[in-house]
Amino acid sequence: MQIDVLLGLQWGDEGKGKIVDVLTRNYDVIARFQGGPNAGHTLEFENIKHVLHTIPSGIFHKDALNVIGNGVVIDPVILQKEIENLKKYEVDFKTKLLISRRAHLILPSHRLLDAASEQAKGKMKIGSTLKGIGPTYMDKTGRNGLRVGDIELSDFQERYQALVEKHKAILANYDFEYDLESLEGPWMESIDALRDMKLIDSEHFVNQQMRSGAKVLAEGAQGAMLDIDFGTYPFVTSSNTITAGACNGLGIAPNRIDQVYGIFKAYCTRVGSGPFPTELEDEVGQRLRDAGNEYGATTGRPRRCGWVDLPALKYAIMVNGVTQLMMMKADVLSNFEEIKVCTHYKYKGELIDYLPYNIEPQNLEPVYESLPGWTEDLTGLSQWKEMPENLLNYVKYLEDQLEVPIGIVSVGPKRSQTLMREELLASISG
Ligand code: GDP
Ligand code: IMO
Ligand code: MG
Repeated sequence: MQIDVLLGLQWGDEGKGKIVDVLTRNYDVIARFQGGPNAGHTLEFENIKHVLHTIPSGIFHKDALNVIGNGVVIDPVILQKEIENLKKYEVDFKTKLLISRRAHLILPSHRLLDAASEQAKGKMKIGSTLKGIGPTYMDKTGRNGLRVGDIELSDFQERYQALVEKHKAILANYDFEYDLESLEGPWMESIDALRDMKLIDSEHFVNQQMRSGAKVLAEGAQGAMLDIDFGTYPFVTSSNTITAGACNGLGIAPNRIDQVYGIFKAYCTRVGSGPFPTELEDEVGQRLRDAGNEYGATTGRPRRCGWVDLPALKYAIMVNGVTQLMMMKADVLSNFEEIKVCTHYKYKGELIDYLPYNIEPQNLEPVYESLPGWTEDLTGLSQWKEMPENLLNYVKYLEDQLEVPIGIVSVGPKRSQTLMREELLASISG
């Protein structure tokens, strides 16, 4: 069996959690491949909203196995809190949640380094979620990191201490006050809890599952525009959020990848700093924020809002090899008289239709095309054929422009509010 990948095409928060949950009934294994608790993946069913940060979004399905892959960075305190929150739902974590020994650990001192570094950046701050993501991946590539498998070693304490001493030496260079000790107790307790969980060599496990015919879905975090290589650097996260990240983050070979599901909002949002060509800093942007309830699932920060950006989406489709698109939050656009789509940029006096190296606002101005909106409330729809004509036109327009079919249109946060184009989804359930 092959593996399918599902990931975000914009700046994160596209609705990955919801769609992974919807698709899980067609899969045996759901595997997160990168990022960490900077992610906030929201699922809603039976009138309860769940936000997952580290745990894969297939966890509510009794038959699915959920893997936290080697590419993920884990804060054990946050992971234990997530598990604690889900205890009342009788999830069998001992057998359903499998954690890679090769995944790196976020130490309390990584979080302090994140905060110190952001504070020192002043105006250039990234707007990090301050979960310690950057410093942890830095220690990974710098070959200093601690991995989940290390907690099974007899000298784990010494290894921990050695890394903390390095961090203290770095922190001494910042004008930054901290209290590490109060964070260390809960962290060590959560490490004990982690020892009782199912730790695996996930690269062997995932490949073995595929060999035995299981269907695997790789779940991405963040989005293509936050990718460390292809995003709006330096205002990005510290991992490869694109399809290639699924190979690194799970140990699967590129030729095993079948479908790549690319998720985007019917408009666009970004949380944190950095360029955002189609951002609307006016009442239309505020209307999108209100209608879409655009406040971060991890930090609660208001998300910046704007129109869909085709050159950026085409770029994301290209670097990810997207085979199917999924358009989220179409319901939010109801009652907008016109829907704008950025088709080109004016860049250094020229009209271009691709994403250039430098997308700082002083170099680039979006050029829009306008499409008619619709007034129908979409939140009660359950079938593709019920879509109002102007929404269908919007879908067709985007498919023509992006040259990739749209397989799902989402019309609300709940599982049931998902319009599927059956012929395209046949590949999933086949
Ligand atoms: P993720 O990080 O990609 O999983 O996305 P988030 O969970 O951070 O943000 C998506 C938000 O939109 C969540 O609050 C979801 O409950 C909500 N959501 C998902 N799909 C839809 C949709 O089609 N319509 C509306 N109105 N909300 C949606
Ligand atoms: P999900 O998986 C939206 C953003 C932060 C910041 C930048 C770097 O829910 O889509 P980091 O904490 O990684 O140092 O932050 O990336 N960011 C996200 N924005 N959704 C996310 O995840 C994000 N994870 C990180 O706001 O601008
Ligand atoms: Mg999110």
